[in-house]
Amino acid sequence: MIIKPMIRNNICMNAHPEGCRRDVLDQIAYVQRQGPVENGPKRALIIGGSTGYGLASRIVAGFGSGAKTLSVSFEKEPSEKRPGTMGWYNTASYEQEAAKAGLYAKSLNGDAFSNEMKQQVIQTIKDDLGDVDLVVYSLASPVRTDPQSGDVYRSVLKPIGSAFSAKSINPQTGEIKEFSIEPASDEEVEQTVKVMGGEDWILWMSALKQAGVLAKGVRTVAYSYIGPEVTRAVYRDGTIGKAKEHLERSAGEITQTLSDIQGEAYVSVNKALVTRASAVIPVVPLYLALLFKVMKEKGIHEGCIEQMDRLFRDRLGKKPVPVDEEGRIRMDDWEMRQDVQDRVNELWPQVTSESIRELGDLEGYNQDFLAIHGFGRADVNYDEDVSTVL
Ligand code: NAI
Repeated sequence: MIIKPMIRNNICMNAHPEGCRRDVLDQIAYVQRQGPVENGPKRALIIGGSTGYGLASRIVAGFGSGAKTLSVSFEKEPSEKRPGTMGWYNTASYEQEAAKAGLYAKSLNGDAFSNEMKQQVIQTIKDDLGDVDLVVYSLASPVRTDPQSGDVYRSVLKPIGSAFSAKSINPQTGEIKEFSIEPASDEEVEQTVKVMGGEDWILWMSALKQAGVLAKGVRTVAYSYIGPEVTRAVYRDGTIGKAKEHLERSAGEITQTLSDIQGEAYVSVNKALVTRASAVIPVVPLYLALLFKVMKEKGIHEGCIEQMDRLFRDRLGKKPVPVDEEGRIRMDDWEMRQDVQDRVNELWPQVTSESIRELGDLEGYNQDFLAIHGFGRADVNYDEDVSTVL
């Protein structure tokens, strides 16, 4: 099949198997170039390990510190007529490369919010690993079915209290327009916290602990975001921000329940990057285009793999783990640097559809967006017929 990108409303509907495979190879090569990770995990469970930050975490654990990795994700498998999702191909590629390197890698595909998946993971750990010394929680989902009640919750990306107006970009055309979003109802705030807050992380850690599959001194880390002034109303002060506050509070609760096995739970506040999840957040693509320009000019730009490599080496690998006054790991340290944010704030009011290509790095944004779906690579011939199955 010949596979070309199909993009609608900032969502890429398909993925290229060979391009995804090469993206995984690039990430592995990056980690290998940095050398072995000291004090890294040996048996890691990655919940949400097929794309974005979770995939990068898996690659650093596996190829940086030689860890056996078990991943959970929710991806569509390919058929003869239709390609699978990018996460499907990334996972297949990771498994292939791990097998070549003699590294254990198993991947389960299904709903991480369900009790059944938790039990399946526990059984797999018991059968294959005995226990795990790292649990990465990296889910990004618009919907969650509560495993007890069966109720379905949906997350929304909305401001709270009052409507929000700002500039937003169509990254495909470069057109910048004002848009406005009405505030969320209380019900929408609650639902978003149910989906993207820490409740499911707590359920995971309790189930793993009860089953006796957490090693002494186990660490667990979940990912959060704070971000700049320009996205504040819709992100940190909005519905998703409430969920992230809940996630961050949950780390304290989990650390308490793990105290008898000297376990620790952390939230790492990561940098804003192009992933399937972030591309659909209003304002974020325009912010990213400006941020990339500024960070590249200053020589401090990072992608998912650079961020996760630094997390494992310079934060989780240290004793004690360096954290801010609220106990959070800050991988957004370079993004939030005063000189970086001052420059973004200077560019923000000036940027228009006409000037975005000069003031911002729209090309870099679009390249990353295509790359995560396996497209836009110079080393892949997209006119060539490829098998949908890797
Ligand atoms: P992503 O969309 O690339 O990855 C999400 C992962 O969750 C995938 O592996 C997907 O298969 C899995 N998943 C979703 N629903 C699932 C379900 N029901 N069952 C099993 N697996 C499921 O997202 P990204 O951006 O890597 O996000 C991961 C975390 O990092 C999120 O908590 C996000 O808020 C956080 N983060 C993201 C930033 C960004 O700019 N992308 C910045 C800072 C934090």
